[in-house]
Amino acid sequence: MIARAAAIIRRGGLVAFPTETVYGLGANGLDATAVEGIFRAKQRPHSDPLILHVADWHQFTDYADLAGVEPLVARLAAVFMPGALTLVLPKRACVPDCVTAGGQSVAIRVPAHPIAHALIAAAGVPIAAPSANLFSRPSPTTAAMVLEDLEGRIDAIIDGGATTIGVESTILNLCGPPTLLRPGGVALEAIEALIGEVLLPAEAVLPEEQAQPAPGMLLKHYSPRAKLLLLEDAQLLQRVADRHKDQRLGLLLPSASLQQLASTSAERFDLGDTTASVAARLFSGMRELDRRGCTHILTHYQAPAGLGRAINDRLFRAAEGAIVKA
Ligand code: TXA
Ligand code: MG
Repeated sequence: MIARAAAIIRRGGLVAFPTETVYGLGANGLDATAVEGIFRAKQRPHSDPLILHVADWHQFTDYADLAGVEPLVARLAAVFMPGALTLVLPKRACVPDCVTAGGQSVAIRVPAHPIAHALIAAAGVPIAAPSANLFSRPSPTTAAMVLEDLEGRIDAIIDGGATTIGVESTILNLCGPPTLLRPGGVALEAIEALIGEVLLPAEAVLPEEQAQPAPGMLLKHYSPRAKLLLLEDAQLLQRVADRHKDQRLGLLLPSASLQQLASTSAERFDLGDTTASVAARLFSGMRELDRRGCTHILTHYQAPAGLGRAINDRLFRAAEGAIVKA
């Protein structure tokens, strides 16, 4: 299976594969025509750059210029690689423009999932891969979710079961002072414990060419079809649930919050007891409540630490920035 999928990548095709974060849609990252196919299959705008996936961080230097940051990259790699950390670095000329959306930097990571690792090693090329969903839909955490969006649009899929983390990698820009571009599977706190303060995008002064720091920061990303009703905390749950009792309401909530709610006719999706389970089930919950015909999905923020930051970021975008306050 891996050998066949690697052959498809080498001849310019598209393969969906599991990583520890979400499923990716991979193509040969050095073949502009193949990469073009990713944008077509996903209906993704060309302004949104892709992440290169490699087997070992020592390969970063083939695609990125590590001058001045190699010791920093080595320290991050020693703790977080392979894993859910993507670094943005100055790119080398061999990386096609379509991978970087014409920019001078490239995003790279080393996935930890054994299937992803085996596929990259067998293909012998860096694999450019965004999440394997149609643009602006919730990222896929199972092969079934990939097929829901992309069946008939890709050459192959490797089914590795459900992904363990469930939200995408953390993206750290090292083209200037270390700056968080997207909270994700590796906690900001853990990165800061290792390398010191990391700036948030609003605090960073970025070079001209990075005026668009992370297109994935677009609102209306990761969205279910239903309207997301996002609460800052659980206190308003009962009131907002009651207000929407005549709608097809879905509850996308941790177990404890679900238990607080008096019985309603709403559809329920239990996100479990821990931040890790909320992250792992979040995107499948959005899709499942869509499938059950919900027009509104009620949920609330997690404590803003660790994986909670990544969860809150995805919820904020899925709600297009609207938070229900009363
Ligand atoms: O966990 C993940 O990162 C997954 C798996 C498949 O690896 N991939 C993923 O890719 O989430 P994607 O394309 O859905 O999101 C990658 C985001 C882009 O939307 C963009 O915001 C950012 O990475 N990005 C990529 N290249 C960049 C660059 N050169 N500068 C700044 N941001 C970049
Ligand atoms: Mg994505």
